[in-house]
Amino acid sequence: MNVMFLPVLFAVLYHVHTLPLHTEEDEYHFKSWMSQHNKKYEINEYYQRLQIFLDNKKKIERHNAGDHMFSMGLNQFSDMTFTEFKKSFLLTEPQNCSATRGNHLSSNGPYPDTIDWRTKGNYVTNVKNQGACGSCWTFSTTGCLESVTAIATGKLLQLAEQQLVDCAGAFDNHGCSGGLPSHAFEYIMYNKGLMTEQDYPYKAKEGECRFKPELAAALVKDVVNITKYDEMGMVDAVARLNPVSFAYEVTSDFMHYKDGIYTSTACHNTTDMVNHAVLAVGYAEQNGTPYWIVKNSWGPYWGINGYFYIERGKNMCGLAACSSYPLPLV
Ligand SMILES: *[C@@H]1O[C@H](CO)[C@@H](O)[C@H](O)[C@H]1NC(C)=O
Ligand SMILES: *[C@@H]1O[C@H](CO)[C@@H](O)[C@H](O)[C@H]1NC(C)=O
Ligand SMILES: *[C@@H]1O[C@H](CO)[C@@H](O)[C@H](O)[C@H]1NC(C)=O
Repeated sequence: MNVMFLPVLFAVLYHVHTLPLHTEEDEYHFKSWMSQHNKKYEINEYYQRLQIFLDNKKKIERHNAGDHMFSMGLNQFSDMTFTEFKKSFLLTEPQNCSATRGNHLSSNGPYPDTIDWRTKGNYVTNVKNQGACGSCWTFSTTGCLESVTAIATGKLLQLAEQQLVDCAGAFDNHGCSGGLPSHAFEYIMYNKGLMTEQDYPYKAKEGECRFKPELAAALVKDVVNITKYDEMGMVDAVARLNPVSFAYEVTSDFMHYKDGIYTSTACHNTTDMVNHAVLAVGYAEQNGTPYWIVKNSWGPYWGINGYFYIERGKNMCGLAACSSYPLPLV
């Protein structure tokens, strides 16, 4: 072939390749999703996001047509690839979370079939939103300390994630790049206190530490680790004592979770693979499948009003790899 035609050929191929492969109806769906989630794009980005949205939508429809215990749906993440999602919302480095010998002392049960700390009393704050910052570990931490403090004192406070983002670095935590609840509880214990959300508002980005000792609102007496992979230890703690912080591995299907009991064959189950920290506020069972009731930090419109269910009893996605809770000092 005459090499002079090559640029023309490439231009034609390129054009064909970038022709919009979507219908008017697709764009209609995308635009209503955009307005529902307050999204705005420059024109180039619009077509790129539209394509990703349609890929995600297809994936969701394919999943929902199959036989699964959980369903998927569009949500605020539907214009992102999993690679983008991971970078903005998950822990990006392997965490040092293995408690080979934890200090939680399990009883021998018996345990109730169902427990839900949201309905036992005023013990669980509303679902919060971490925004585009890998600070899930701070929300798991405040959620757990809020609950144990409320259970001990009868007073439900809103505690400050931002203080942990800004100040807890000496305990192997890394602000928006990740950290662990057990390390954050240690920081709060040695720092002698965590301020309230109101006194130290959340910014979804790293800043300078502005801790004021006189405004410390919650204190930690001790940190309790549950031995790695001891999921019955988690059941024991949640059944008898309080909600428990845990970490697990989020894989690409989880960002589209809508409702039902999440299970996966794609995720790993070891301590080195966990990339998201959350709070177990209870457990239950449905049609013979036991599951955890879990508070997430992706806002109240994700999942089941900000919560999700995940299969219990199989160390699903490593959820029993590193779980912990604090003893409050009251
Ligand atoms: C894990 O521990 C090692 C050694 O203490 C440290 O260098 C590394 O930064 C830690 N990793 C994280 C993600 O905290
Ligand atoms: C709890 O586990 C963490 C690792 O996640 C470890 O750094 C810490 O020393 C442990 N604390 C106790 C009280 O065993
Ligand atoms: C992880 O999953 C594999 C395969 O199902 C299983 O053999 C192994 O025991 C699990 N490990 C842990 C720590 O749960």
